[in-house]
Amino acid sequence: MIAPSILNANNMNLGHDIEAAAQCGISRFHIDIMDGHFVPNLSYGPELVKNFKNQFPNLEAEVHLMSNNLDVVLPAFVKAGADLIEFHLEATNKPDSWLTYLHQHGLKAGLVISPDTPVDKVKPFLDKIDQLLIMSVYPGFGGQSFIEKSIDRIKQARELITTTGRQVPIEVDGGIDEDTVGKVTQAGADIYVAGSYIFKRGPIAEQINKLNKVISS
Ligand code: DX5
Ligand code: ZN
Repeated sequence: MIAPSILNANNMNLGHDIEAAAQCGISRFHIDIMDGHFVPNLSYGPELVKNFKNQFPNLEAEVHLMSNNLDVVLPAFVKAGADLIEFHLEATNKPDSWLTYLHQHGLKAGLVISPDTPVDKVKPFLDKIDQLLIMSVYPGFGGQSFIEKSIDRIKQARELITTTGRQVPIEVDGGIDEDTVGKVTQAGADIYVAGSYIFKRGPIAEQINKLNKVISS
């Protein structure tokens, strides 16, 4: 599954870009929330998620929370109508209770690890998450280059998940394009977040089709 990150879409014409991607069969959008603290950048607030769901009730809003102020920020995005929230393992000392909180509120819950966090740190949570996001760039900005060691990290995560007997999808985020998407697919990733490749490098439909071709080949 491709989950376009709207961070690099045309924010003066966001609805148009989302519609163009949805017409290519995209059913989930990745919404990057940056708090200027956990990461050195700012992006959107809960209002954007609320408006997204009002305008596109049939599309899934996946919120990638790059904040360590979860007490304030996470419930706000639950209230705004997010379908799935994924937060960073590095950002909290009570991941368990946030995963429970999300499930109790009827959302899907994901855990995210940044490039320098050992993959086996996610082990205790594998039976409680709906997906695992392996960052393939340092969080904070779109348009960065894919970090090659992510391939081994995806393989390692896939092995860990296999031992649990559960089907936890692995998502990869950062520097995904027609070259890297093939490598991460082979390594065992299932969900591909792509921002600048889809929204900045050519017509949206063409970019999505190019990715789909590699994924299904
Ligand atoms: C980075 C974000 C990514 C980013 C992806 O902090 O989490 O979702 O927008 O953008 P590209 O595809 O341009 O690397
Ligand atoms: Zn992201």
